[in-house]
Amino acid sequence: MFSQLKQQPADPILGLSVKFKADNNSNKIDLGAGIYKDEAGRTPVLASVKAAEQFRTDNETSKAYLGSAGSMLFNEKIQALNLGEHKVIGDNRIRTISTPGGTGALRIAAEFINRCTPGATIWVSNPTWANHQGVFTAAGLNVKTYPYYDYDNKCIDFAGMVEALKEVSKDDAVLLHACCHNPSGMDLSNSQWREIAELSKKIGFMPVVDMAYQGFGQGLDEDAYGLRLMADTVDEMIICSSCSKNFGLYRERIGACSIIGKSAAAADIINSALLPIVRVNYSMPPAHGAAIVETILSSEELTSQWHGELNEMRSRIGGMRRLLVDKLVAKGVTRDFSFITQQNGMFSFLGIDKDQVQRLQDEFSIYIVGSSRISVAAVSYDNVDYLTESIAKVL
Ligand code: LMR
Repeated sequence: MFSQLKQQPADPILGLSVKFKADNNSNKIDLGAGIYKDEAGRTPVLASVKAAEQFRTDNETSKAYLGSAGSMLFNEKIQALNLGEHKVIGDNRIRTISTPGGTGALRIAAEFINRCTPGATIWVSNPTWANHQGVFTAAGLNVKTYPYYDYDNKCIDFAGMVEALKEVSKDDAVLLHACCHNPSGMDLSNSQWREIAELSKKIGFMPVVDMAYQGFGQGLDEDAYGLRLMADTVDEMIICSSCSKNFGLYRERIGACSIIGKSAAAADIINSALLPIVRVNYSMPPAHGAAIVETILSSEELTSQWHGELNEMRSRIGGMRRLLVDKLVAKGVTRDFSFITQQNGMFSFLGIDKDQVQRLQDEFSIYIVGSSRISVAAVSYDNVDYLTESIAKVL
């Protein structure tokens, strides 16, 4: 049976980490996967997470099954983190399940959509996270794209986006990045969100909001503006969120899929359809990451410590954006890279071509995604000179 298999290409993002690890160049820099790194190039366990883990070790009394929805306390806390004190929570119109990371949430959401409308179309931004297409296709959805990033002018092609979304059918789903657009770093303004929310209401398409970076853009509440506005405006929507980045829980795989229905009764039916999808996939989510997050969010002290740590990560990335642009100028680069400082979250497109990306890897051991997406979160005072000199050389 296995002899039928053909060698497959490595994942465009995760494959880079493998190559990076095998590289012996002491100057090597990994700007591939979206992983926060501190000034020393480490991805540390947050102190608030360490404290929550200690609390769990001391207080956990059982490892019995939790059920397909995972931890109900985590689900409640994540609703409040994503939506604030939103009326959909008060009106009991939302159901949340814990999932194995944000990817798990997207896969479950996609299977749920497919169950509602077999073979439905989901529209994703062009460009989007390299894994969106694969996750949705694997769940049986048809994937189409709407214009999003204007590569020439380094801004959002909002007119193109609106034109495309006007053609979307009411039975289609539309994936929107809540904040810190991956890969472009360009986010919708509040007024643009208002237009998209009105469009969704008018046409009736299903918004699927992917929030993988809450807190990495402007702040926890600011980054949720579009998502909350959408929940104010439409009757039904899906939210996929992740705790990988904002809690630094990458390998624990903890995220959430929340579905908002028209009424409490509709939400119950939604839940009854959602849980069997989990059951046939992986029965129930792992508990450890959820336990950490719910412990932090249940304690005022740990929440405030976590806010401090999140603010520090966000402001370090902001500082690195400015430093990168200044250093490129200092190294004699005449091309304008100032757009890097106007973007949110971990990512930016350098806008260099595929050959230049490959040269950075082959000649300088600098690993970036083929689209020229860099993770600014991995730039530091230590590596910025080597990085900008290398970029200047390939330019
Ligand atoms: C990324 O885009 O680099 C991250 O979301 C990590 C991943 O799983 O691709």
